[in-house]
Amino acid sequence: MCGIFGYIGEKEAASILVKGLKRLEYRGYDSAGICVLNKNEVFLIKGKGSINDIYHPENFQDIKGTIGIAHTRWATHGAPNEVNAHPHADCKKEIIIIHNGIIENYSALRKILEKEDHKFLSETDSEIFAHLIEKFYSGNLEGAVSKALKLIEGTFGLVVIHKNNEEIVVAKRSSPLILGIGENEIFIASDAAPIMDYTNKVIYLEDDDIATIKKSSYSIKNLKEEEITRDVHEIKWNIDQIEKKGFKHFMLKEIFEQPEALENVLRGRIKEDLVKLTVDFDINKLNRVVITACGTSWHSALIGKHLIEKISKIPVEVDYASEFRYRNSLVNENDLMIVVSQSGETADTLAALKEAKSKNVKVLGIVNVVGSTISRMVDSGIYLHAGPEIGVASTKAFTSQVMALLLFALFIRQKKGLSLDKNLLEEISSLPKKLIEVLNKSEEIKEIAEIFKSSTNFLYLGRGINFPVALEGALKLKEISYIHAEGYPAAEMKHGPIALIDENMPVVFLATNGTVFEKVLSNIEEVRARGGRIITITDRDDSNIKRLSDYIIKVPATMEELSPIINSIPLQLLAYHIADLKGLDVDRPRNLAKSVTVE
Ligand code: AGP
Repeated sequence: MCGIFGYIGEKEAASILVKGLKRLEYRGYDSAGICVLNKNEVFLIKGKGSINDIYHPENFQDIKGTIGIAHTRWATHGAPNEVNAHPHADCKKEIIIIHNGIIENYSALRKILEKEDHKFLSETDSEIFAHLIEKFYSGNLEGAVSKALKLIEGTFGLVVIHKNNEEIVVAKRSSPLILGIGENEIFIASDAAPIMDYTNKVIYLEDDDIATIKKSSYSIKNLKEEEITRDVHEIKWNIDQIEKKGFKHFMLKEIFEQPEALENVLRGRIKEDLVKLTVDFDINKLNRVVITACGTSWHSALIGKHLIEKISKIPVEVDYASEFRYRNSLVNENDLMIVVSQSGETADTLAALKEAKSKNVKVLGIVNVVGSTISRMVDSGIYLHAGPEIGVASTKAFTSQVMALLLFALFIRQKKGLSLDKNLLEEISSLPKKLIEVLNKSEEIKEIAEIFKSSTNFLYLGRGINFPVALEGALKLKEISYIHAEGYPAAEMKHGPIALIDENMPVVFLATNGTVFEKVLSNIEEVRARGGRIITITDRDDSNIKRLSDYIIKVPATMEELSPIINSIPLQLLAYHIADLKGLDVDRPRNLAKSVTVE
């Protein structure tokens, strides 16, 4: 989703801004722009497409200036084009702004400003900021921003410069903004990735903070214009972790990082057959767990439901965060809410969290990005420590989320005074090695991808704890290959989707050992009888599977509780290879954003 980067210091800003925007590319965008200030002159370039379409080094040779702001836009109000791309300027072209978020009362504000003769160029809600700040500006940029913010309903990560001022003013509400503190230079960004090239010292701004930034100092105020202080944090991961390290795509690298990611989520959390977590709730009052999330994280939540109910015997409800937030859910202080989010910035998940907190529900976060908004708002949390996930299609975060939910299920069981299954604990520790075995099948899976890359539809079928894996496999394929795919509980197929099956329909079955293996086998028979083309993920040497399947991807045997983690890997690889063989931009699929910060 939209990305923000800004620089103020002693170096030429233009090349720093371009590099920063490239670091933000993974968030997904459809247009971009850069503005550099040089001795009261404004240089502004923006347009539709990728940063490379907009940025040509020859245009930048003469651009001098040590203050600049830059933006990648993911269209919400108005088509992706040059006019709608950020930055936006006021009528006099003196005040330049970039904005992430949504101004809900923009139509009303635009009407008022137009009556006052402000001329709008774009269809965006963001341009309001440039004109509103212009209206209040009389030499004090921070003061004008503060007045403008008082009229805004909505969310913002806002960055403002004035051509005559050697400063950048920023403000935030429900849209992340981070300051990177360097030596005689300060960076502003919507996430840490572009800052990490220069410094690991960061300040996470809080809602309604307004910061005025100069090259070697900054001050932060609240909306009442009172000075406030924010802690400087040190980011622990380094720049190597956001490089491709020889892999063709970030997604492939991240798929291959899963054994290590699992080790990281487990590290220090199982000791002497006990699960160690710091989770803030009263076990004696716990009636129910409610998990909310979006997309892939919602799929891991569905797996979490199976695990928590089976292992800890506590009922679990799983809701899409976007549905939970508006449906007046009957949660109360005897429930525990878990929010699952890779980015920790997803707008709907954040809103669900706030809704739960307003009803005195304790919230536990399962989050990957350290310091993200959700991670700072929850009562307690389990960080995934999976490292930065750059590919838009989530992979290592998903399997790490499943493992975190399993740890949570074991932790609750332990808190209830019940003993933990030693075999399961042992199997958990041997899982990273088993993932390596599956990853070694990448070339074999690529051959299957070659056969099916021109298919226009796919069905993914699984049962029980592997039904959400089918959903996730279908989502991965849709996201990056643009092939229509549906995930279904295998038994539901006969209630409708079976009508789709013919010799052109590839059907991926999850048929690993477990309580429903025989049932899945019957469902495979049903597809075979109708001529569907069957790809089966299995850990069994089963003669029926061999007879019925066109292609088999053999995975190592594990316990049923852990099968979703193993079974997800071949589905990720299948989606990856199909998309790559089709020549698609795997890491930046069309229309998608890495972190969805609008509802
Ligand atoms: C995953 O492949 C997707 N790109 C998407 O569904 C994602 O999982 C969803 O937007 C939720 O994101 P979060 O985990 O960062 O909250």
